[in-house]
Amino acid sequence: MLKRRQLLVGAVAVAGAGGAAWLYVRSRASQALPGGPFRHYPFDPVAAENFQQKLFVPVASGPFGVLDVTAPLKIRATAASFPLLPGPASQAPSPFLLYQTEHAGQAYQNPILRIESGARFTASLDNALTEPTIIHWHGLHTPAKMDGHPSDTVPPGARYDYDFTVRNRGGTYWYHTHAHELTAKQAYNGLASFFLVDDEDQRKLAKALDLKLGVTDLPLVIQDKQFDAQGKLVYRPNAHESMMGWLGDIVLANLTPNAVHAVTPRTVRLRLLNGSNARIYRLAFVRNDTALPFTVIGTDGGLIERPETVTEAFLAPGERLDVLFDAAQAQPGDTVFLKSLAFDPMENEGAASASGGMTGMTGMSSRDHQGMGQMMAGMSTSRLPLGAAFNVLKLSVTAGDRVVTTLPTVLSEIKSIRTEGAFERKIDLSMTHMRFLINGFTFRMEEIAFEVKRGAVEIWRISNPAVGMPHPMHIHGFSFQVLERLNSPPQWSAMARFGKGRAVSDLGWKDTVLVWPGETVRIAIDFAHDFPGSQTHVFHCHNLEHEDAGMMINFRVQA
Ligand code: C2O
Ligand code: CU
Ligand code: CU
Repeated sequence: MLKRRQLLVGAVAVAGAGGAAWLYVRSRASQALPGGPFRHYPFDPVAAENFQQKLFVPVASGPFGVLDVTAPLKIRATAASFPLLPGPASQAPSPFLLYQTEHAGQAYQNPILRIESGARFTASLDNALTEPTIIHWHGLHTPAKMDGHPSDTVPPGARYDYDFTVRNRGGTYWYHTHAHELTAKQAYNGLASFFLVDDEDQRKLAKALDLKLGVTDLPLVIQDKQFDAQGKLVYRPNAHESMMGWLGDIVLANLTPNAVHAVTPRTVRLRLLNGSNARIYRLAFVRNDTALPFTVIGTDGGLIERPETVTEAFLAPGERLDVLFDAAQAQPGDTVFLKSLAFDPMENEGAASASGGMTGMTGMSSRDHQGMGQMMAGMSTSRLPLGAAFNVLKLSVTAGDRVVTTLPTVLSEIKSIRTEGAFERKIDLSMTHMRFLINGFTFRMEEIAFEVKRGAVEIWRISNPAVGMPHPMHIHGFSFQVLERLNSPPQWSAMARFGKGRAVSDLGWKDTVLVWPGETVRIAIDFAHDFPGSQTHVFHCHNLEHEDAGMMINFRVQA
């Protein structure tokens, strides 16, 4: 069977020379391929010379302003516009959805909320959209009623009130719409931002490394989007894209396409969030075709125990990776690119069509190479296939005082969940026709897939069949620890040097974990909580098209 994605990556992005496969290769095919809506050549993220837009860096108010939560918030979800593409490609800002609020006399749009661990968070959401919506606080341990479950989606004109204690440790969390069956479209069109939790560990680290939020400590959300010829955001998945996930071909860092950011010779912290609907990134800092070391200090649920130095890491939709990049390892005048390296997307649709789902796309195996352009036009409208290599952010190293700081050897304490005697639950991902399922379920609002005892520790054994695609699996309400990966693909195993098949992004507290085709990932979850009554939460794929198509289940933690 034809493996479309592998074929494309082979032709488009990979040098093919073994270990050099990640090398930056200027894509000839990206210009030759016909079809698709890619009419913004100046923003082609493969071309390094396009990286000229100043990275948007959050300030104290306005769009993505840092809002230190000290009082109840009134948040309004509303349709607005936002200048996404600069220059002649976009004379007018793109329509965009925003969370608006005011706090201490300042106006904010999609504020980066910052709050102390243990503090009370009170907010109301007013739905000023023309369609239903709800906010979910991704990664937070809250009562189910405060979590933004799809059943709490409110109609236009309605309000939803949130009031909970922030029980999570310090870390980089986020919030986004969880509107029933509208999450993908609404999040893509803007309804998402950061929720930063501060604590003693975070302050110690910031002090030791002389980090300042918005200056040397940058929240950085990475997203891929498509735009029309007028520079307006496009979200129009066809049947194929609804099934596999919507991919963009312009890559935004903090909503800046082809962003450049100046750094002085010192350590900077980047709080990376994959806020894309479906794209997985294989991130590396590259100077002249060489991947430079960087240090991972945190994952989804805050700091890991010890800093870990690596040269690359995968980041799937929903995941966060808190990294330190030492710009002093480059010279003033040097350019370092945060890139996504080429990888095998492992989307096996040849087999998918054999199983009955992909009618209309099966005829192309005979057309092979010349048919590639048509394949792309007929299948994914993105000019940037999953697994292609491209740039995300250009760092230009400038002259400046060399700031030398000492990274603490211990960042935090992660207590391992005790799994002796824990019930091991099978979570089987599968595929039927045009949908992906969890334990045979497609999401139904009132259906509870299984119950869990309050206070129980469970091991979930998540298995993805060899035929299909990678799925970033995400749990609401609780965090987990990755125990073990089995039967991982070589591209994962190559970076799995943390025992039990785990790579750096598996360390610490997690709420989202990428499961590759053929792989089994075992995670431990402690269902202890002190909320009154039973708690119904969702567990779903964070490929947002999959989530909306029902790759999601309810589970109930008993009272
Ligand atoms: Cu970030 Cu249910 O999702
Ligand atoms: Cu979530
Ligand atoms: Cu999925």
